Amino acid sequence: MTIEDAKKRLCLALDVDRLSDAVRLVERLRDRVTLFKIGFQLFTKEGPEAVQAVRRLGGRVFLDLKYHDIPNTVASAAREAVNMGVYMFNVHASGGSEMMRAAVEAAASQSQKNNTPMPVILGVTVLTSLNYKMLEEELCVSNTLSNHVTHLAKLAKDSGLDGVVASPREITAIRERCGRSFTILTPGIRPPWINDTDDQKRTATPAEAIRLGADYIVVGRPILKADDPAAAADKILRDMAYYNVPLRI
Ligand code: C5P
Repeated sequence: MTIEDAKKRLCLALDVDRLSDAVRLVERLRDRVTLFKIGFQLFTKEGPEAVQAVRRLGGRVFLDLKYHDIPNTVASAAREAVNMGVYMFNVHASGGSEMMRAAVEAAASQSQKNNTPMPVILGVTVLTSLNYKMLEEELCVSNTLSNHVTHLAKLAKDSGLDGVVASPREITAIRERCGRSFTILTPGIRPPWINDTDDQKRTATPAEAIRLGADYIVVGRPILKADDPAAAADKILRDMAYYNVPLRI
């Protein structure tokens, strides 16, 4: 992919406490990054104003609130996500097909009503903080971790979701099961020039993640903690463009 393509596929995690910090980052990076992830931390503190602030600065928003509730409640939340004008949001695939379908239907009808684009809806499969032992002993899932991830990814696809959030090591199996046009967004990215992986264990470089088939990569601390976040973003964009991988979606 070209650098311009990479700019559309790099998602910056706005993992900061204050709206003013988020705004400063968006202003500084919006020439390099077009998609900004707002998660629990910023949304719990600042609410929908955080979404509006990023949008006013021309950024697209991935609202990472991982909805997981009864279908009616998730449908209501999906409508509000559409009303906020988010580009992308996510739900837990383990909420089941009825819940995921309710989210898709509610988002579609609200987008139609508002005459706004339908957001991209992604499923969260198995949190990367869980390992196979916890899956088996605590959650009584007898499947292997990889099979459970691909099972939930397929369930998400069959329920009308556009794609999933997945760790770099899951990309290949999900691609095989869910096809080329299924969106895969990958966190756990660590550029090759960073030695500290923080709390991320199963990491990949930007270039590796793209080569493996990620459509979007989410990067937080390697940019947020850099002395020069813009220079860090530039290096990540160049790494993403390293292999000549064409855009799928
Ligand atoms: O700072 P870092 O690049 O590790 O940030 C990764 C971002 O992706 C964080 O916002 C984190 O919540 C999110 N994430 C993750 N691993 C997952 C799912 C989401 O790190 N499996």
